[in-house]
Amino acid sequence: PRSVWLSRHGESMYNLSGRIGGDADLSPRGHQYAHKLPELGDRPLTVWTSTLKRTIATARYLPPNYNQLQWKALDELDAGVCDGMTYQEIKDVYPEDFVARDEDKYNYRYRGGESYRDVVIRLEPIIMELERSEDILIVTHQAILRCIYAYFMKKDQSRSPWMNVPLHCLIKLTPRAYGTDEERYQADI
Ligand code: F6P
Repeated sequence: PRSVWLSRHGESMYNLSGRIGGDADLSPRGHQYAHKLPELGDRPLTVWTSTLKRTIATARYLPPNYNQLQWKALDELDAGVCDGMTYQEIKDVYPEDFVARDEDKYNYRYRGGESYRDVVIRLEPIIMELERSEDILIVTHQAILRCIYAYFMKKDQSRSPWMNVPLHCLIKLTPRAYGTDEERYQADI
């Protein structure tokens, strides 16, 4: 690809209350980011979102000539029985799981849900499609973005759970012969 543009969705109501997973709407700040996003690109892009409301709403104000596609494979890491909980609630209700995840975050699979390792596998078709596409903007979720970012930056996938992908930051990656160039644009909201 020429460049891959990556963004998390704008801040959601769950981000505000510290809850994981779910299908929450954007917060007022998240809406501000959605309005800013069109100013950040510099050429027509094809936009891939997840099927969840917060990524679709984040891409809503991009120009109508940008093709948009929703991928289930871009939905956030499935937290299973912990979906919708805060980390404190998980610690109280499933203390052993909380410790197990801390000890091996890459391999830990939520009860009834997924691990980072599972996400890396389900992202394979996305990565293959990305490799043969040009100028794609992906609006997705923290865990998913960490895995895609690690792939393009040629980091070991087992390190993906610790990649830094903040909210309201557009990351532009350009693969080159010697490695991948990275630019970050943090929205000022
Ligand atoms: O808190 C936002 C979020 O995207 C959750 O939906 C998700 O479970 C979490 O981040 C992933 O981050 P971590 O793997 O560090 O818990």
